[in-house]
Amino acid sequence: MSFTADRLLLFGASGDLAQRMLLPSLCALHADRLVADDLVIVCTARSDFDDDGFRAFAHAALDTHLAASRRPAIDGFLRRLRYQPLDANATDQFQALADKVDGEGRGLAIFLSTAPSLFEPTIAGLAASGLAGERTRIGLEKPLGTSFETSARINDAVARAFPEERIFRIDHYLGKETVQNLLALRFANIFFEPLWNSAHIEHVQITVAETVGLEGRVGFYDGAGALRDMVQNHMLQLLALVAMEPPALYDATAVRDEKVKVLRCLRLVAPDETVTGQYAAGAIAGHAVPGYLDELGQPSDTETFVAIKAHLDNWRWKGVPFYLRTGKRLPERVTEIIVQFKPVPHSIFAGRGARTQPNRLVIGIQPQENITLSLMSKVPGLDREGIRLRSVPLDIRMPDAFAGPTRRIAYERLLLDLIEGDQTLFVRRDEVEAQWDWIDAIRASWADHGMAPQPYTAGSWGPTAAIALAAKNGVTWHE
Ligand code: BG6
Repeated sequence: MSFTADRLLLFGASGDLAQRMLLPSLCALHADRLVADDLVIVCTARSDFDDDGFRAFAHAALDTHLAASRRPAIDGFLRRLRYQPLDANATDQFQALADKVDGEGRGLAIFLSTAPSLFEPTIAGLAASGLAGERTRIGLEKPLGTSFETSARINDAVARAFPEERIFRIDHYLGKETVQNLLALRFANIFFEPLWNSAHIEHVQITVAETVGLEGRVGFYDGAGALRDMVQNHMLQLLALVAMEPPALYDATAVRDEKVKVLRCLRLVAPDETVTGQYAAGAIAGHAVPGYLDELGQPSDTETFVAIKAHLDNWRWKGVPFYLRTGKRLPERVTEIIVQFKPVPHSIFAGRGARTQPNRLVIGIQPQENITLSLMSKVPGLDREGIRLRSVPLDIRMPDAFAGPTRRIAYERLLLDLIEGDQTLFVRRDEVEAQWDWIDAIRASWADHGMAPQPYTAGSWGPTAAIALAAKNGVTWHE
């Protein structure tokens, strides 16, 4: 049912994500008048605030995390907020929450940003207090489980109260402008698509590198590791967008149908096609940083780096490796996709001493939003000593190309889509399950082969074995 919610119920409202992302995003939407004047935002968490106490808390978070240009809107935004303390394990407390939400109005959007252990009691409480009616949709923030089985359990619990059309699973990478631009690049231009296959592409690389370490998320991260924290969701979604067939429409069903087909083609990874690492003390940008175990304060075999050579067993991608790499405490924060094309089938310049290099497309997702296509070009000259060719970049810097429009953070987009009910950029259950299937098999193979992460110095690009993983096939990671 299509409706624009006039109530938003935010669980986990005093948490880190709410302070850094959700409240600032909502305030930005308010400042730009993108949400209805009568949208009420009911916030809930365990912390014991009253309405005014929570508004003061939200004010402090906005002062820290909202862009200065938007701060004049803070007071107006705070008037939308209500607060109700809640222990999600206490079913009897949900009635007071329902009273605070005060009926369904035009529609209710719920956003669950809580510990995974609270998902099931929260859903049960929502259902029991009448907060899961037909005009309610629910957004779920990761992590949704740690395996196929645990995620299925959460999904089953949610499905008991909400049909799939009203469940919005968040992968915030899909809210990033540059990630959506992948679709425009592929499907709004004629010239990439005919070459976008194993006949013309040699390999693809996807790197998501971070400079941050554990960031105090001891309990969560050590139980997850890089494979489940980054590859299972963000990286596989990027891979699916790069590799999927053209959907017939830009809508939730067509796009997600195509993504899930790709995810189901992922071949089981052989043990020698993955490398895991854990950062040891080192330095980033000239600053000494401690090792993972020092930050954690206890022994651990959790990987903070993973590199995988993945394959898609389908007609389009047969024989094209997808090299995936992600890690914490790497030398720079960068997310990028490299599409390495094959060499030209025959070089007419070889007899004149010139060498051609295969074309390469670099799609910068963050922090630089660039699209660079390397093209071979002749070096100017009279060529008495032979023709010289050189690779030159055809470079599009997105901020220059689009200087006018505001760059929005992922959660602004996703919260607005949740309020308005557009599921295109949310992950469907079958996608999540295909992702977990593949990830669980990798973890099982690590366990079977007793694989433990190899140490790497913080500030390096991971264990040397990751370089070897690509080098075996003559591939160099793009850096
Ligand atoms: C989150 C992970 O999903 O994504 C974090 O849990 C990671 O570990 C973060 O740091 C990265 O997001 P972004 O948008 O900063 O690339």
